[in-house]
Amino acid sequence: MTFDRSIKIAPSILSADFADFGAEIRAIEAQGADWVHIDVMDGHFVPNLTFGPPAVRAFRPHVTTFMDVHLMIAPVDPYIDAYAEAGADMLTAHIEAGPHVHRTLQAIRGAGCKAGLSLNPGTGLDDLDYLLDLVDMVLVMTVNPGFGGQKFISGQLEKIRRLRAMIGDRPIHIQVDGGITPETAPMVAAAGADVLVAGSAVFRGGSAGSPAVYGQNIAAIRTAAESLLAPV
Ligand code: DX5
Ligand code: ZN
Repeated sequence: MTFDRSIKIAPSILSADFADFGAEIRAIEAQGADWVHIDVMDGHFVPNLTFGPPAVRAFRPHVTTFMDVHLMIAPVDPYIDAYAEAGADMLTAHIEAGPHVHRTLQAIRGAGCKAGLSLNPGTGLDDLDYLLDLVDMVLVMTVNPGFGGQKFISGQLEKIRRLRAMIGDRPIHIQVDGGITPETAPMVAAAGADVLVAGSAVFRGGSAGSPAVYGQNIAAIRTAAESLLAPV
């Protein structure tokens, strides 16, 4: 996968129909999703529980784009191999999840996945200095993790701008996650984000049976994100 910083929309299946993930994944990909964002939650690092490795393995055959697995779990190291073997293309760990994040990122790449590092809203950029050569993506959380449908935390825009300057021309994506809608998408894109996760703003109003709404929602977020960017 060659690196490019064009806007990518990564719907989060946390907002999908939990009784029909295969159809939902196929529908969002057919309707323009660039990546599929899988929110893994352990009920300890975040106050919610979602998908173990068997579930991610079940999703894998339905994903033809890029399976972006967001690990909101602590500890994370004991589970890296299981989620990699389940078929993740990207494994994103939280910098807050444990004391040895440098080793965690080495282990993710060692397991054959792209490595992402996520920062909660209260976490600064100071600890990234010795980690940027180990990541393919930095995820700036724009809500406190655990649930879809929350309000965007606009104070994170300054963090995104500073992160974009830190990264320079390194081939590192900036992903944002939480409260991304056509209203907030232009702001995060202008600040430097290139991968936009959206759950409720993609799935609301649609279903795998009427997927065109998903396509309209994805297109609305993409158009809004690109509206403030200079044409490449
Ligand atoms: C929150 C998850 C997000 C969430 C986004 O903990 O990491 O991916 O599903 O949902 P929306 O887009 O509805 O805020
Ligand atoms: Zn997420």
